[in-house]
Amino acid sequence: MTNEPRSNGPANPAASARGAELASDYTVSLHYDQRLYRQDIAGSIAHARMLGRQGIIGETEVGQIVDGLEKVRAEIESGSFPWKPELEDIHMNVESRLFELIGDVAGRLHTARSRNDQVSTDTRLYMKQASGDTISALRTLQEALLGAAEANLDTVLPGYTHLQRAQPVLLAHHLLAYFEMFDRDATRFAAAQASADVLTLGNGAMAGVPYPIDREFVAGELGFSRVTANSMDGVSDRDFALEYLSAAAISAMHLSRLAEEFVIWSSEEFAFLALPESYTTGSSIMPQKRNPDFAELARGKTGRVYGNLFAMLTTLKGLPLTYNRDLQEDKEGLFDSVDTLLATLSVATGMLEGARFNADRMRNAAESSYVLATDIADYLVGKGMPFREAHVIVSALSDKLIDSGRYFKDLSFDEYSAASPLFEDDVMDIGIDSSIASRDVHGGTAPDRVKAALAEARKRLGEAG
Ligand code: ARG
Repeated sequence: MTNEPRSNGPANPAASARGAELASDYTVSLHYDQRLYRQDIAGSIAHARMLGRQGIIGETEVGQIVDGLEKVRAEIESGSFPWKPELEDIHMNVESRLFELIGDVAGRLHTARSRNDQVSTDTRLYMKQASGDTISALRTLQEALLGAAEANLDTVLPGYTHLQRAQPVLLAHHLLAYFEMFDRDATRFAAAQASADVLTLGNGAMAGVPYPIDREFVAGELGFSRVTANSMDGVSDRDFALEYLSAAAISAMHLSRLAEEFVIWSSEEFAFLALPESYTTGSSIMPQKRNPDFAELARGKTGRVYGNLFAMLTTLKGLPLTYNRDLQEDKEGLFDSVDTLLATLSVATGMLEGARFNADRMRNAAESSYVLATDIADYLVGKGMPFREAHVIVSALSDKLIDSGRYFKDLSFDEYSAASPLFEDDVMDIGIDSSIASRDVHGGTAPDRVKAALAEARKRLGEAG
């Protein structure tokens, strides 16, 4: 008994033939999974060697299979490999070519293996590499942040809250904030890498295999630290991909924030920095413009990186155990996130390395503002006034200054005295530099603290590298 409906054949044979053609295109993944060829061949070589050691296939056969697979790899790398989309994926293309090259002995390779554990192993090998590449690219960007911070140790700018000038800070302190973000990102990619670092070969289609295989040997050959504990989980688990995708989404968000600051800071209104010319483009109509296209694209591409995470979460959410063909949809978005993130990390590094910060504009923005208001209030607190009361007095002073188009540095001592009898001569010493120097706490912007933070960051980066 099957549950096939009883049928007299298709109602419309021509439409059915068109459907068949479309249907086979529909299942093809070769155009994106061919990038797994190295992992696929390495996995097959390790598997064949194990089969030989265990006496499951003959040693001569192992030799022929391994030579054949190496030929396949050479053909792919020299561009002479005869790709066949009708064979759907990388695994079938490699195996079928192996038959052409070495004959029927090729048929022994797929003993004690299924494409289900094979594709998962390939993808895990790829993810381990991609996570490592991503971490290296993050380290290079962190290095560029440290370089920019060290080159601009005396540069002062207003720090912002609500994009309103809030309190003066060192530019190095601002840049080190991004260093911390990318440092946390690297930790997340290392965790994703550890999740991918588990061998799934040996799970077979899903129940394990009826041969005396040696999974630890294969794991050792391929550089996996562990083997999966449950075959059903092994063939259907894509958490490692989700972990990379979510780490990528967070990292893209950090890059987008940095890119947004590049866009704002390079505007004529701010003019805090000039982006390197190679990272801007001219306008086709307005000759005076240098548009920050690279920074904008770094910001804009965040959307697709988020999208890839959501696509994958959604693909997985309704799947019954174990392998379902839906899982083939794991790769395209993953590859796209890896490519997009690596490209964006390199663009961000290049922009930072070539950016010219305008220290005068930055200091001027801090001087021509009310960023000292907190310091004046803290001064009154130092003289014994409750902070809330000090806040009221300094608010009134700021309002008065704003009305007359002046700043705290323009206030006379008499005006201070009139606002509160607690003000003494030394209030006249409060300025941008004293404000920054007063944030002398661990994690604060005082110059010595920032120098120490820089040295600590350098050390951390050195130890990570
Ligand atoms: N191309 C498939 C994928 O990426 C390979 C596994 C196919 N397995 C199967 N039972 N149809 O998932």
